[in-house]
Amino acid sequence: GASVEVDISGLAPGEMATVEWRGKPVWILRRTPEMLAALERTADLADPASKKDQQPAYATNTARSIQPEVFVAVGICTHLGCSPVTLPAGTANPSVPADWQGGFFCPCHGSTFDFAGRVFKNKPAPTNLEVPPHRFLADNRLLIG
Ligand code: FES
Repeated sequence: GASVEVDISGLAPGEMATVEWRGKPVWILRRTPEMLAALERTADLADPASKKDQQPAYATNTARSIQPEVFVAVGICTHLGCSPVTLPAGTANPSVPADWQGGFFCPCHGSTFDFAGRVFKNKPAPTNLEVPPHRFLADNRLLIG
């Protein structure tokens, strides 16, 4: 069918899994308390409240998720469709400030996103990363789509 069921019981804090849904990569990241705390820093974000985005109503909160720890997003840059990679807090990279709190980095043209997929200001990506429809079937069982 069009939906994909995922067991996330083996996903430790800080780990991310990728599943395929409708031909797209979908990330499931189990965020740590540090990752969640960093989401409170919104000054440098282009659209911190995700007003311009396509996303389910249950993902319009700060963490853009149903459960704060479990972030689900389509792993495709909203600029021209490249695959962003995880850039841990403190990573030295010319596209991010020295006090980088961690997030995603698109190697194609340098767009950066926080760990809720929210794009930073003055980057080519026009919107935050897409959150696909999803729900929990049980604590550790997700249904994407
Ligand atoms: Fe990601 Fe251009 S495709 S920044």
